[in-house]
Amino acid sequence: MLERIKYLTEEISNLKADLPGDVEQLRLKYLSKKGLISVLFDEFRNVPAEQKKEMGLLLNHLKNAAQLKIENLKSAFEGNKEANDESADLSLPVDHMAPGTRHPLSIVRNEIIRIFGQIGYTVAEGPEIEDDWHNFSALNFPPEHPARDMQDTFFIARDPEILLRTHTSSVQIRTMETEQPPIRKIFPGRVFRNEAISARAHCIFHQVEGLYVDKNVSFMDLKQTLLYFAREMFGESTEIRLRPSFFPFTEPSGELDVSCNICGGKGCNICKYTGWVEILGCGMVDPAVLDNCGIDSTIYTGFAFGMGIERVTLLKYQVRDLRLFFENDLRFLKQFTGTI
Ligand code: PHE
Repeated sequence: MLERIKYLTEEISNLKADLPGDVEQLRLKYLSKKGLISVLFDEFRNVPAEQKKEMGLLLNHLKNAAQLKIENLKSAFEGNKEANDESADLSLPVDHMAPGTRHPLSIVRNEIIRIFGQIGYTVAEGPEIEDDWHNFSALNFPPEHPARDMQDTFFIARDPEILLRTHTSSVQIRTMETEQPPIRKIFPGRVFRNEAISARAHCIFHQVEGLYVDKNVSFMDLKQTLLYFAREMFGESTEIRLRPSFFPFTEPSGELDVSCNICGGKGCNICKYTGWVEILGCGMVDPAVLDNCGIDSTIYTGFAFGMGIERVTLLKYQVRDLRLFFENDLRFLKQFTGTI
């Protein structure tokens, strides 16, 4: 149905009429009781509830655009009668522009927010220009520690204290510094690393961080939360596996793989013939990090995870090159319709 609305919106913006009788034909074709647009309104009753809002907006927009177009064509002929060859009435309203489509990264970010919203996570954001404390030191990366090498950083004005954040974990710190548990939040945002640009890496990308701190939060809660997320995002049959890893601010730490939804686990070039694709890093918040933020680590425990939105989007939509997300090529962007 969405495709038909888009198609008709485009078609209507290009309508022309050579004779006054043509205008009436067009009105009948689109707007009469059995016309193409009225039929869509009839079908609208069967649209699932969660799509009603978006679909309703588009449909009303289509109807208004059609009415306006027919009016315009009609008055062009009337104007003709009066003023012979002065056919253009410059005071008429312009044709509406067809609505665009949402960027795939925004679609996936909103989907992640929706999925975690269902289990009680709210959204918070932090600054893209950070200080060393929030991006590194409070997260247990001491100065000169080799773990900093993993996140090659852009510093501002040669000041080693001020930088473009390399991950959204900085917002964990900002949240824990100002709030006491229970904390259950996700932090979407743009991050920056000094990476060579390729099909799999960019110097600007997007992450969503998650943080849950309360009494008795365990690794089991983390694993179950990630399983729920993976199945909501990639489908019911998705499997997960956790591999041990290292991050200075979580202990123990893991990396989460999901079964490759492109080859169904059989092996393809996206999963490098392993059947698994890595999508995020995670772990139990290191007690030292809780203490750094003024949260008593003898009472509270927590978990955190962080994922790249580009990576999830590549996998979900089977895009092979993440540079496409930043090139603004309409032929690419127009392919992403669907959830708002
Ligand atoms: N911040 C880490 C990264 O960007 C990901 C992460 C987040 C790992 C939270 C563990 C917990 O690589």
